[in-house]
Amino acid sequence: MTAIQPTALDDQTVVEVKDLVVHFQVLQGRVPAVNGVSIKIKRGKTLGVVGESGCGKSVTGLAIMRLLPTPPAEMVRGEINFHRQSTGQVIDIMQLHPQSAEMRSIRGNDIAMIFQEPMTSLTPAYTIGEQIMEAIVLHQKVGKREARQRAIQMLDRVGMPQPSRNVDAYPHQLSGGMLQRAMIAAALSCQPSLLIADEPTTALDVTTAAQILDLMGHLQEEMGMATMHVSHNLGVIAEVADDVAVMYLGRIVEQASVDDLFYNPKHPYTQGLMHSIPNIGQRQRLEPIRGVVPEPDAIPKGCAFAPRCPHYSPDTCPPIPPPSVTVGPGHEVCCYLLVLTDSVVKPPDNRAHRW
Ligand SMILES: Nc1ncnc2c1ncn2[C@@H]1O[C@H](COP(=O)(O)OP(=O)(O)O)[C@@H](O)[C@H]1O
Ligand SMILES: [Mg+2]
Repeated sequence: MTAIQPTALDDQTVVEVKDLVVHFQVLQGRVPAVNGVSIKIKRGKTLGVVGESGCGKSVTGLAIMRLLPTPPAEMVRGEINFHRQSTGQVIDIMQLHPQSAEMRSIRGNDIAMIFQEPMTSLTPAYTIGEQIMEAIVLHQKVGKREARQRAIQMLDRVGMPQPSRNVDAYPHQLSGGMLQRAMIAAALSCQPSLLIADEPTTALDVTTAAQILDLMGHLQEEMGMATMHVSHNLGVIAEVADDVAVMYLGRIVEQASVDDLFYNPKHPYTQGLMHSIPNIGQRQRLEPIRGVVPEPDAIPKGCAFAPRCPHYSPDTCPPIPPPSVTVGPGHEVCCYLLVLTDSVVKPPDNRAHRW
């Protein structure tokens, strides 16, 4: 059954996630992995999603793909309104069965995902070419010979050396950087309108990582796809993102354009992240955020960042989650200090932070 949303998205929005809640049922109880996330990604633009490990970035990406194993995952509520270019329809992906024909056709045709570890999506027993061709034959309804030609072209486009030879290589015959290129070729061979890139360069050395980021930028420009780029690395986010969502413990605590976020960070967590990254060319003392991310069963009732926040006070921060405050065009922050006054949290001078 097709779930068509009566509420249309504006022309430029490829996907709009509204109040997404995902829980995991584990031995210790229910873990609220994603707790009311709302994001929008526009055609040809990149939304960077950043935050410490365990804050729900991957779960958000996997939820959009409907790739979360249920159980233990439970899609509790929310909307994932996706503008399907091929049909012009807006579909609420939350309403689809993960294994339905429609969802399977969306995965691979319209939305693709790449991972930190290329072997998450590549299989050791098949050649690179066979794996790229499989997607092309399945979704584009072309013959094997044509699919092989397209696979070679795609490998060429992602900068694979000797594409007509490496199309027949098995994954174990390729280096990490080449595997990453092969995975990107497989993901993009169907020209998706949305790419979810989950830490795609985290496992690579800096030079290869820079090449892959550069490649992704070029391909995005060529194909005009919207991208959700998940990374724990603010330097990567600064480079690739148009807009940024900062996540902490399943919630987005700050959302802004990349310039606003880096030059005018408002949430104490965002400010802490900025202070804990090295500044190239300058020797300086790094200030890691104090404390650690609490265990899921010990998440505070109010602001989840309160136990680590240098500005927390029981007088200003009541034990209910802070509302979202708009502090500028497209700049939203969930912090009680901004509910009271915009001047309490002084933004540090982040103009010094350049990568
Ligand atoms: N398969 C799973 N089973 C149980 N809990 C999970 C599973 N996958 C993720 N989680 C939990 O969901 C939360 C968010 O995880 P994740 O989205 O992977 O974080 P991130 O990608 O930001 O590092 C974490 O608390 C994690 O332990
Ligand atoms: Mg992750």
